Amino acid sequence: MLLLGDLVPDFTAETTMGTINLYEWLGDGWGILFSHPKDFTPVCTTELSEVARLKPEFDRRDTKAVGLSVDSAESHLQWAGDIGDFSGTELNFPLVADPKREVAELYGMIHPRELETLTVRSLFIIDPRKRLRLSITYPAAVGRNFSEILRVLDALQRVDRFPISTPANWSPGQEVIVSGSLDDSEARVSFPAGVRIVKPYLRFTPDPA
Ligand code: BEZ
Repeated sequence: MLLLGDLVPDFTAETTMGTINLYEWLGDGWGILFSHPKDFTPVCTTELSEVARLKPEFDRRDTKAVGLSVDSAESHLQWAGDIGDFSGTELNFPLVADPKREVAELYGMIHPRELETLTVRSLFIIDPRKRLRLSITYPAAVGRNFSEILRVLDALQRVDRFPISTPANWSPGQEVIVSGSLDDSEARVSFPAGVRIVKPYLRFTPDPA
């Protein structure tokens, strides 16, 4: 089982954009590796369409998306036309063909009591050091909220830049939480825009980004 902070497993696999090595393809940027159960199915079509539509948002966050299922590359390529029809955007990121379930096993994407042999809706955010920073697993019948994935990317990129964390339901532009590693005077130096102290352990500052 992959845990947060682990180095994610590297792999080389056939995709809709040719053979790709994950580490090389991600380079120094961020990545999202996500699985779907099956090509030519409704929820999956809406999900992949949404990721294609959001590509400019992922680009702005220096993040590349990679999809995966146990279908073949030929199947993925045929299905790509439907994704284009539905989203109005061509399939603009690679879809891994994993018919032998090699990558699926490496990443624990098969949950047999949910779907016996198909991948469930797993999603991994991978940082530039190839460390796992977020892992979510959704059931077959529930499509994921990719706005939430963008929100988590924004939060992770903030906490890597500043000594902060982000509160419940945070979105960019809202106050963030000052790290407990700074005392009040250090916090005021680090965050000249101001520090709002609610409790000694709960201090807010305007979004520093
Ligand atoms: C779907 O995408 O709609 C779906 C795929 C596999 C199982 C259940 C639903």
